[in-house]
Amino acid sequence: MNDLVFRPIAEGERRAVHRLLAEALHASPPDDKGWELVGPSFPADRTLAAFDGDAPVGMASSFATAIAVPGGKTLPAAAVDGVAVRADHTRRGVVTTLLSEQLRDCVRRGDLIAALHASEATIYGRFGYGAATTGQNLRIITSRAALRPEVPVTGRVRLLDPAEAVGRVPELYRRIGLTRPGMIQRPELWWPAYHDRLVRDGGGDHRVAVHIGPDGENGYAVFRTTDQRTPDDPGRGALLEVRDLHAADPGAAAGLWRFLIGLDLVAEISAPMRPADEPLRALVTDARAVQVTGMEDHIWVRLLDAGAALAARTYREAPAVVLGLEDRLLPENTGSYRITADGATRTGASAQLRVDAEVLAMLYLGEWRASTLAAAGRITVVDPAALVDADELFRTDVRPWCGTYF
Ligand SMILES: CC(C)(COP(=O)(O)OP(=O)(O)OC[C@H]1O[C@@H](n2cnc3c(N)ncnc32)[C@H](O)[C@@H]1OP(=O)(O)O)[C@@H](O)C(=O)NCCC(=O)NCCS
Repeated sequence: MNDLVFRPIAEGERRAVHRLLAEALHASPPDDKGWELVGPSFPADRTLAAFDGDAPVGMASSFATAIAVPGGKTLPAAAVDGVAVRADHTRRGVVTTLLSEQLRDCVRRGDLIAALHASEATIYGRFGYGAATTGQNLRIITSRAALRPEVPVTGRVRLLDPAEAVGRVPELYRRIGLTRPGMIQRPELWWPAYHDRLVRDGGGDHRVAVHIGPDGENGYAVFRTTDQRTPDDPGRGALLEVRDLHAADPGAAAGLWRFLIGLDLVAEISAPMRPADEPLRALVTDARAVQVTGMEDHIWVRLLDAGAALAARTYREAPAVVLGLEDRLLPENTGSYRITADGATRTGASAQLRVDAEVLAMLYLGEWRASTLAAAGRITVVDPAALVDADELFRTDVRPWCGTYF
């Protein structure tokens, strides 16, 4: 550890640091052509690394975004999109130093929240991140999954050609807006690596369908199909995988699902990481044709400025509750917060419920109930009456969901 240097990376070090990330995640580093697409999404700004001599052996990167919180406000946020330590330098505290410094760096930049996708559920709690959204993985047997006749048809669906998709989908995502807590803005640098390369002529194998409602385009789906026929099973239909599906309203969402389910020669649809309350099973004639194959934690969040983040979201009508927070890595957050239907403020009052930074993050977007976490021993309950009030205050109308890979 002592001989390692921790510092922001220079422009010329981007590719070597990206290679380190790819190798740690057991992915192939991009070739020159791939780097042309992925490289712009991996700027030197906001990437910290540990160097052993000239060689990067650890890295933590993020990009600037904004995240929607309950009530509809969007807050400046850091999307942590890369964390890796070279296999011969693990378990020596490298990531601890990098993530601690990254939190401080994000605070200095004015981010109120950091968010990430965790490769393993046991790493990030110690840094104050909490699993804040859940995604459901769906498998749809298309032969049994027609949409119910009473589901209204509110528009039509059109397939875009690749050049159109590269130009139009970012604009459409922006126009649809952040409709759930946990959704993030996608900056320009996000699109080349996570969208354009999937749909581009010559390499991309994904297609894009847009839904056109009475006032124009109001939803889209990015998907790909794979032929599953074999000599032994020549009649087997294709597999359709949904990568990205967003809609401005339920009619547009239903229209996109109707289109995907109705595609000829498709036997099954795999739709990972969909919102936990997406009503697909209620939309189809045979609810069992839509199977939930898994429920997984999706984004983890970390409150960087607990006071500002708590004050920015809305709460439901219930008696006030005083939460006591202990934040080991950002001790300026440690203290008591009075949560009321009118907002949240710091207070000198003594805490009714005591939480650490991870548990506060789990409560923040509305995914977890305080009483569930208390039953698991994750909340210290000083005043049991406060639990039911905390459940109500933090509850949200819709389940939080991110819907963006990064
Ligand atoms: C996961 C990884 C980033 C950890 O880096 P590291 O430098 O070895 O971590 P540290 O030595 O700082 O360990 C920090 C703590 O996390 C624990 N830890 C580290 N890796 C862990 C893992 N994979 N699972 C569970 N705990 C882990 C350590 O035991 C240590 O615990 P402690 O604080 O109680 O002592 C690194 O092993 C790695 O790059 N793995 C492969 C890529 C990956 O998973 N990246 C994350 C992408 S989201």
